[in-house]
Amino acid sequence: MTSAASPIGVFDSGVGGLSVLREIRALMPGEDIIYFGDQGHVPYGPRSMKQIQDFSEGITRYLLEEGAKIIVVACNTASAAALKYLREMFPDVQFVGMEPAVKPAAEKTQTGKVGVLATPATFQGALYASVVERFANGVELFQNTCNGLVQEIEKGNLDGEETRRILEEALYPMLEKNIDTVVLGCTHYPFVIPLVERIVGEKVRVIDPAPAVARQVKRLLEAGGLENQNGGRVRFVTSGEADSVKSVLRVLLGIESAVESVTWKNDQEVLA
Ligand code: DGL
Repeated sequence: MTSAASPIGVFDSGVGGLSVLREIRALMPGEDIIYFGDQGHVPYGPRSMKQIQDFSEGITRYLLEEGAKIIVVACNTASAAALKYLREMFPDVQFVGMEPAVKPAAEKTQTGKVGVLATPATFQGALYASVVERFANGVELFQNTCNGLVQEIEKGNLDGEETRRILEEALYPMLEKNIDTVVLGCTHYPFVIPLVERIVGEKVRVIDPAPAVARQVKRLLEAGGLENQNGGRVRFVTSGEADSVKSVLRVLLGIESAVESVTWKNDQEVLA
């Protein structure tokens, strides 16, 4: 049985969800969090919907077994592929997912031209189509999957040559189309905002949805009387190599932390 003292469960295919975790911690420093990075399967972007649903189900079961009171799907790809599926599989569990921030971008753009960076599975999902249909309102969207960028960020390469090449290849054509807003539709991408801003310049707005996601988590916990002011501990769990996640934690969040390692028994079951 969960209570206010139970942790918030957060997961992503890898370290991307840490861009959401840091906003949750900034907004609710008294909350305990258990973060699961599925480095054993990253990247999710090129994978099938079924595979992503299986992985997301297995991770959700693990986080619930660890006592999570709410599950944050801090992954646009998993949200696109599995959020509806998870809500059907776990009807009594509260989920908060991601969706590309087309709505705020469409409201703010002056040129009516917006760039969206996300993975192939995010763009293919019904969620993105629905977001575009509901909110694009005559705004012209330019999309790019930034192939290889997730892997660079997983290695902590936030401004290396390959990272810069991928972003320039994605952004230069959009700038030529006169975009004035870029939507970061993958939770890994906020970690390269400084480089993105150097490429697009100060006239182009870069939108990171993570703060809005943290506010939604807070709203749900408040509504359920489940807020915790007395915690503040974070557990990091990976299905990959604990040492490599520890070193990327230093790069991305500037923290030293233990990292627990778990293994997959099959595509839907994590062995702690
Ligand atoms: N960080 C995830 C997202 O927001 C997934 C990236 C990947 O594993 O391809 O889409």
